[in-house]
Amino acid sequence: MAKQEKTLQQAIADRRATPSFDGKAIPAEDLHKILDAGLHAPSGYNMQPWRFVVVQSPEQKKKLRGASYNQAKVEEASAVIVACGDADSWRKDLDAMLQLGREGGMPESYADQARSSVPNYLSSFSADQMKAWLNKQVMLAFTHMMLMAEVIGYDTAPMEGFEQEKVREVLRLPLSYSVVALLAVGHLQGADKFDGGRFEMGHTVFGEEFGKPLLLK
Ligand SMILES: Cc1cc2nc3c(=O)[nH]c(=O)nc-3n(C[C@H](O)[C@H](O)[C@H](O)COP(=O)(O)O)c2cc1C
Repeated sequence: MAKQEKTLQQAIADRRATPSFDGKAIPAEDLHKILDAGLHAPSGYNMQPWRFVVVQSPEQKKKLRGASYNQAKVEEASAVIVACGDADSWRKDLDAMLQLGREGGMPESYADQARSSVPNYLSSFSADQMKAWLNKQVMLAFTHMMLMAEVIGYDTAPMEGFEQEKVREVLRLPLSYSVVALLAVGHLQGADKFDGGRFEMGHTVFGEEFGKPLLLK
């Protein structure tokens, strides 16, 4: 029997940064669904500069834990999705991206413009700007994955507690890759984390300009 999926609203309400996982393997079809949701995220110019390394083997999870300040959930999770950005992806993928677009109806005039504007824009970036750009894109795909995992009944834990160089070494990442965040996916073991709460809307949302309250009638 097909599992009952949560609505997005329910998944958002239920999601907690899971403290501990039971370690059971995740079925391939579920993993595929989670990853596929991420790959449907939007990205600047549709360049899709994200790359994901999915770690499931006990040996790799153990090594990854060692590169992640010994956080036990890295080893306990069914799978850890290591979200990376590739600073060179636009050089390699521009033509393929334009071809994909053409198949979906991209006008030739748009393709012509993108062929020059994408390299103009991205080649002007400093290393820090590229890192910021990649982080933006990668975290969107990451969030799609996290929420899809919740929708289909999994628990998740986003993590920034890792050592960049150590993770790069464990995963044998190319030089142009940077690690953005880790997403542990599995099933909660033991008690869930407390609900940390959120600031009320007036604290973080403004209407029309900074400092003015948003009036929702
Ligand atoms: C990008 C990001 C990185 C995080 N890194 C870690 C981490 O390394 N270790 C950890 O225990 N929690 C980590 N968290 C979880 C946060 O502490 C948690 O999301 C926050 O306290 C709010 O709790 P909630 O997600 O249960 O609502 C991270 C969350 C995000 C979004």
